[in-house]
Amino acid sequence: MKAYDVETPALLLHLDVVERNLTHMATRARQLGVALRPHAKTHKCVELGRLQLEYGARGLTVATLVEAEVFARAGIMDLTWAFPIDPGHIAHARRIAHDTGATLRVVVDDLGAARALAGSGLHVWLKVDCGYHRAGVDPASDYAVAVARELGREQGLSFDGILSHSGHAYRTTSKAEAAVVAESERSVMVGFAERLRRDGISVREVSVGSTPAIAAAADLTGVTEARPGNYVFYDRTMVLIGCCEPADVGVSVLATVVSHQPGASHFVVDAGALELSKDPGPAHVGPQAMGAVKDEPDLTVATLSQEHGVIRVAGAARLDGRFTVGDKVEIIPRARAMSAPPPAVAALAWAVAGPPILIYGATRIRRGKIGLHVTLMSVSAVIEIAVVAGFSFLMVPSPRRAALVALPFFKIHLAFAVTALAGLAWQLTSRAVARLRPLHRHTGPYVVLAWCLALLTGIYNYVFLYVMGSP
Ligand SMILES: Cc1ncc(COP(=O)(O)O)c(C=O)c1O
Repeated sequence: MKAYDVETPALLLHLDVVERNLTHMATRARQLGVALRPHAKTHKCVELGRLQLEYGARGLTVATLVEAEVFARAGIMDLTWAFPIDPGHIAHARRIAHDTGATLRVVVDDLGAARALAGSGLHVWLKVDCGYHRAGVDPASDYAVAVARELGREQGLSFDGILSHSGHAYRTTSKAEAAVVAESERSVMVGFAERLRRDGISVREVSVGSTPAIAAAADLTGVTEARPGNYVFYDRTMVLIGCCEPADVGVSVLATVVSHQPGASHFVVDAGALELSKDPGPAHVGPQAMGAVKDEPDLTVATLSQEHGVIRVAGAARLDGRFTVGDKVEIIPRARAMSAPPPAVAALAWAVAGPPILIYGATRIRRGKIGLHVTLMSVSAVIEIAVVAGFSFLMVPSPRRAALVALPFFKIHLAFAVTALAGLAWQLTSRAVARLRPLHRHTGPYVVLAWCLALLTGIYNYVFLYVMGSP
């Protein structure tokens, strides 16, 4: 039976690719001198967890106590539940460890929870914020040392060490940028471990990780363990941020075309939100989408309802003679077509090209006796509005989704446009109203200044978005 004979919707797991990914990450960890404790939240699958152990992992990381229980009952005996524990979950965690005999390691970033763990017999990591700003103690704070000291007393618990997650590595656009995040995570964690050791607190292990950071890290000196998760399959997000190649993606969803109306610029497949993530992926590397169709770069998985997936193309004519009901398509999850120019690039182009265009236009019109600032304001407002409209209706096939894609850029453009329009309104009113006319003469330069500040803020935003990814 060929893969395409399988009844759909079906998840296709490309075992050869997965095994290659496991080998590659195991080799990387060895070369970097760290142990691997992969995050199993990506697959939630006992067989794949066992395969990771076969490929050298020392244990697994899990996201929920239910996952911990399933893996422990399946005989995977060394697990970290990498989610901040609160006192209310301690009894359940102890029960799992007691009933299965597994070593269950929990994660804490709160002094009260750390005190509550005393006497639990559990292994405990201190969660540290390495720059992702989601959970974890601030390593520069006294509070971080106070929690570490409480754990370091080891009153009926084992203090394993410190743990961080570099989720902000997903905001990068290349391996070089991810390597910078990895190095900053390493230096924050190693620096904090040294600070604790100087304070007499024993830190046995330093655990870090996210797939983009570990895939890019050049050096992990001082770190003992890495916890990448996504690498087992990768996905289109990882391709788009330069973390892996398209050929490294180890899962896809096989779907059947179930509706394609004549003249429509979309068709419907039997893979919806239940089969594909509704997560539209990162916004900083291009328009978001819920998936890409393998070998069909002009198609986008545009919207998902529970069982329906709507696949769109820009222009109905491009679907003529393609995709009749019963055809199969292979969808790479959480992806979008790479053909459209990334908004950040377009926005940056406007930020660079905009001012000279405006100034040129303004000097020409000035000869026709229209004031420089009035011209700047109006041309700026028109361009901003055109750019926002362009983002919304030209770049992405689905206008509703386009509005979302354009949102961060829309905000920046809106700030420009509002400043420009407000300045324009003031200039026109103060010139027209006799009582305001004396003010008019003095406020022109301030209006131009406000416009320039708005422009500079915008340029700064574009550069920030372009270099760092959207926040
Ligand atoms: C605490 C923690 N560690 C490790 C990971 C693994 O990250 P990734 O899936 O990017 O490899 C995650 C993922 O969310 C996580 O939350």
